[in-house]
Amino acid sequence: MSRLSPAEIIALDRAHVWHPFTQAQTAPDPVVIERGAGVSLFEPDGREWLDLVSSWWVNLHGHGHAGIADAIAAQARTLEHVIFAQITHRPAAELSARLAAALPAGLERVFFSDNGSTAIEVAMKAALQLHRNQGQNQRRRFLAFDGGYHGDTVGAMSAGVSSGFFNAWTEMLFPVDVLDLPTTWIGDDAVEAKEAAALAALDQHLAAYGDQIVAAIIEPLVQGASGMRMHRAGFLTQAAERLRAAGVLVIFDEVMTGFGRTGAVFACQEVGFSPDFLCLSKGLTGGFLPMALTITTPAVYEAFLDPSVEKAFLHGHSYTANPLGCAAALASLDLTLSADCAAQRQRIERHHRAALAELADLPMVCRPRVQGTIAALTIRMPDGPNGKGGYASPLGAQLTASFRQDGLLLRPLGNVVYMLPPYCISDEQLERGWQGIRRALLALR
Ligand SMILES: Cc1ncc(COP(=O)(O)O)c(C=O)c1O
Repeated sequence: MSRLSPAEIIALDRAHVWHPFTQAQTAPDPVVIERGAGVSLFEPDGREWLDLVSSWWVNLHGHGHAGIADAIAAQARTLEHVIFAQITHRPAAELSARLAAALPAGLERVFFSDNGSTAIEVAMKAALQLHRNQGQNQRRRFLAFDGGYHGDTVGAMSAGVSSGFFNAWTEMLFPVDVLDLPTTWIGDDAVEAKEAAALAALDQHLAAYGDQIVAAIIEPLVQGASGMRMHRAGFLTQAAERLRAAGVLVIFDEVMTGFGRTGAVFACQEVGFSPDFLCLSKGLTGGFLPMALTITTPAVYEAFLDPSVEKAFLHGHSYTANPLGCAAALASLDLTLSADCAAQRQRIERHHRAALAELADLPMVCRPRVQGTIAALTIRMPDGPNGKGGYASPLGAQLTASFRQDGLLLRPLGNVVYMLPPYCISDEQLERGWQGIRRALLALR
């Protein structure tokens, strides 16, 4: 096919493509991006965009990173893919071992899948089957926290029902117990009372149903999709310990928080709790290829060992442990574990804190919050900070239009504006982002 003009690409797109999370009837034409370099994305005419959301939270070290691209190219010339049942390969074995070494003790058995949602399905299915394998048929319920989002497949939607995204499919979902999460922000003086109330509610729930619950599923430290809602590590440590004491398996969904987003390489390290299942995706391959992992403990793995095939975990995907994804993940992991990357993440956090301190004076801004490289604020709505938000809020479209003008790729979540940039972002680029946010907020008045 000859080289297409941007207008031709858009025409083909409009005729044939169905975009995710988009109402095509009212959406503006999509932006055509031709290439990426570092934090920047470029349209065919050279117009630059700063990717301040890491392209749906996947990119860690910048677009077009040469080291990751080279690792993928070398792997593609050696072995692009092979069935992963009763066959293995170096990149998968090495990645599993390297992650086991980097994770809290106990998390050492790796199951591969394709995306965040499948990583969650794997954890939920394995947790349920583990109890079945052990003859504990009374454990049938799952527990989640208010505002959690875990993906768009049926189990993940059921666990994330309180995120409010799934009203079109309520008939498909199975019931999940949802408890309050004591979210907090800079200057929140009610946090201790909220945490005490949430722990008391958890105690009560566990006293009533603890022996019926399969697993609890939690986005540690930051709930992404429901608006970068943050909670304190200490609360989660206590909650997770209570769950474990009640025999409830703990699933940490680190699909978004993993690989340095929250400051430490994994949020579970900050929480000081090693879950029974850890779900990783997004940043796993540095944002190059779709892949996901559900990592668990020897105790969980051993519950599936038996002479009978029925007790095995009979689940898998065609592209399981794709060698290209593994090669990308190994290259990205080297970068993520480096001292330079840790310093980049600390610098981003410092910059976020200073920028938010200035913005917090604006009358429409409330609940400023930072966790590592993630910063967010809530726009005060006439009916309160929780009012009228939601993914479909018209406010989001207004803000996005302003960000578009400034060449900033930012996607507000309802009345929440957040930044979650690749770690290679410079101070100057961060400043451009924060100034653009200031301009967009002031234009709302
Ligand atoms: C915390 C969390 N879990 C799971 C998912 C689902 O991941 P995916 O979109 O790759 O299926 C997401 C996606 O945003 C997420 O943020």
